[in-house]
Amino acid sequence: MHHFVYKDGQLYCEEVPVSKIAGEVGTPLYLYSHATLRQHFRAFDGAFSDVPHLTCFAMKSNSNLAILRLFALEGGGADIVSGGELYRALRAGVEPKKIVYSGVGKTVEDMEYALRSEILMFNVESTQEIMLLNEIAGRLGKKAPIAIRVNPDVDPETHPYISTGLKENKFGIDIGKALEDYTLAAGLRNLRVAGVSCHIGSQLTRVSPFVDALQKLKVLIGKLRDSGIAVEYLDLGGGLGITYNKEEPPHPREYAEALKKELDEKDLIVVLEPGRVITGNAGILVTKVLYVKSTPEKKFVIVDAAMNDLIRPSLYGSFHGIEPVKLSEKQRVKADVVGPICESTDFLAKDREMVAFETGDLVAVMSAGAYGFSMSSNYNSRPRAAEVLGKGDRYYVIRARENYEDLVRGENLPDFLNV
Ligand code: LLP
Repeated sequence: MHHFVYKDGQLYCEEVPVSKIAGEVGTPLYLYSHATLRQHFRAFDGAFSDVPHLTCFAMKSNSNLAILRLFALEGGGADIVSGGELYRALRAGVEPKKIVYSGVGKTVEDMEYALRSEILMFNVESTQEIMLLNEIAGRLGKKAPIAIRVNPDVDPETHPYISTGLKENKFGIDIGKALEDYTLAAGLRNLRVAGVSCHIGSQLTRVSPFVDALQKLKVLIGKLRDSGIAVEYLDLGGGLGITYNKEEPPHPREYAEALKKELDEKDLIVVLEPGRVITGNAGILVTKVLYVKSTPEKKFVIVDAAMNDLIRPSLYGSFHGIEPVKLSEKQRVKADVVGPICESTDFLAKDREMVAFETGDLVAVMSAGAYGFSMSSNYNSRPRAAEVLGKGDRYYVIRARENYEDLVRGENLPDFLNV
């Protein structure tokens, strides 16, 4: 469900024509729907309303301050993976006690920052990290709350680049070694064992891998209890998939029901880290056709957005719907939608059937609200796109388009070149 719909042949974001926003803000532009974001957050969070839980939005999927603020006001927390994300979360008013910190490579500085900020929990991912966090917490006179991020060796049946819970992945501590590391952590003065966590992958379209992981975690929790180590939080990570094309992922309600069926431990607080399922279909990338050209082999629609704006098709071969902002009776053709970047991997769609776009037409690249802007870069010295939030009959620029001055910020000529 989302609020990008056609009315009288024009694509709207809620009650504003997308063409009006593109005309005023320029292209390329990320456009999010407030009602969709809120509805997705509520559907997910609400599905767990009958169990003690905390929804920590995975802000790597979309870290714009306005969007974080929106979820904070809905009572959400944040799943962070860097000091930068912690900074953004705090700036947006997310309560520190609703922040969980995952990641295999936390730096000393980032750990200190998170300890001083009194976050809810560190999801630690190696024995060395356990030792280092204990040392830093001791130095700061703090007791660090931890969960071990367990690698349960479950196949999430998704793209290999976004699988995280298999033995061969770099994430977490092998479930077979977890008890040993929990015992170690429980014996350290400056750590407090608070929970167990896992995250097995992203864009999962079936519930069974989540259930398999949860069952393995339950066995571990039982063993921990038997050894006198009590946990308060059970963090199940994120990963619920969305429809980009023809996928039929479970609704958050089905996902929640399947998990709740397994949750017989009534005293545990469940932490969830959804990203894509909340933001993915709440945003589109709007771009303008610069040229169309045909070779003997192919047709190309050259647009003003590129792989630096949306890298998912190039990186994972991902599908994003390509839709006209204005419906027309034009014939349909098979074409590639490509950007201006000097790489053959610079495409947004390949061999796709679409209307025969012409120069000046606006194109909506669908399902771009998650891992779209947040993965964008300045490659080819392209200023990053503007981000806009549509709400009812209004819209708000929530991130200004970068300009050329922004591109060179922080760069300096050393003296010997300043001649
Ligand atoms: N928690 C942890 C520890 C994670 O590593 C991730 C995603 C999430 C939660 C949120 O997962 P989600 O609910 O969004 O599936 N760039 C890729 C996705 C990478 C996901 C990385 N981790 C893409 O564009 O598909």
